[in-house]
Amino acid sequence: MSKKPWQDYPQIASSEITPESVWLNRRNLMKAATASAGLVMAGETLAQPKQLKELSFLPAVDGTPFKATEELTPYEAATTYNNFYEFGTNKSDPARYAGSMTTDPWEIKVGGLVNKPGKLNLEDIMSDFDLEERIYRFRCVEAWSMVVPWIGFPLSKLLERFDPKSEGKFVEFKTLYRRSEMRGTRSFTSIIDWPYREGLRMDEAMNPLTLMTVGLYGKTLPNQSGAPLRLVVPWKYGFKNIKSIVEINVTDRQPKTSWQDLAPQEYGFYANVNPKVSHPRWSQAYERRLPSSLFNPSRVKTQMFNGYGGQVASMYKGMDLARFY
Ligand code: MTE
Repeated sequence: MSKKPWQDYPQIASSEITPESVWLNRRNLMKAATASAGLVMAGETLAQPKQLKELSFLPAVDGTPFKATEELTPYEAATTYNNFYEFGTNKSDPARYAGSMTTDPWEIKVGGLVNKPGKLNLEDIMSDFDLEERIYRFRCVEAWSMVVPWIGFPLSKLLERFDPKSEGKFVEFKTLYRRSEMRGTRSFTSIIDWPYREGLRMDEAMNPLTLMTVGLYGKTLPNQSGAPLRLVVPWKYGFKNIKSIVEINVTDRQPKTSWQDLAPQEYGFYANVNPKVSHPRWSQAYERRLPSSLFNPSRVKTQMFNGYGGQVASMYKGMDLARFY
């Protein structure tokens, strides 16, 4: 049997890995296998998954907020149960279809209220920034969660290079929008006004927890996880964690974000994980930790700011978090 990517990852004991059969039902397992084999399904040719590269990085340090102590989510669960609407709305669609996205060459444009606007290509990013591992809890607004060893560098380091002006109060992010390679953007049921957009307040963007992410489990990101570059903001709901970023702008106004645009009464700009503020259609008090199934739901209590209050709560002092959800 060929080696799975997580088996190369040094810090996971095999005893910690939940067999995929426990969490993947038979149907999903077959879908995932078909996708990774690059076979033809429903008349569509699926792109071959690209080779992921090993990364060199500083491992996360014990006893810091950069290293959650919970058991890691198995690689397979984190990379086959995804949200990436550019490739479809089913959780298995990104793993099946995101292989069609070309990520080489890749360029990211940084502008707006900065003194030194410009571009960086992926090679610059990989050589100029020291990569670190961050083992973070990740909580989706849909009430599932995971624990993932991400690899990246603080977003603050990237922003500093472009020298934000003092009027810059927010940071806006945009995902690649390439219809020919993104079947979800061509779908008549597509609900998002592409490209996918997100935003942070400047202090949130500069917070040491906020990670520009290029890898997970020791390797570069697979496309479904937002290759080659995505954001990870661990105290916020998953939708803030924008994938496959091509543009960053510093702004003086709060940027429009895709989910807020779509359903402002359900998804706010802040989107801080908060067990006390329910989504209008469900409670946020608990979450399903992946791998999760009907018989073994792995229900855990949701923590305020996803457990990162010590690092972030001061940024929201005096704010009504039920109003600024
Ligand atoms: N980024 C883009 N471009 N498109 C998306 O549909 N989905 C978001 C976020 N980033 C999304 C995106 C949502 S809703 C979640 S929960 C996370 O990605 C999921 O990240 P994961 O698939 O790595 O778990």
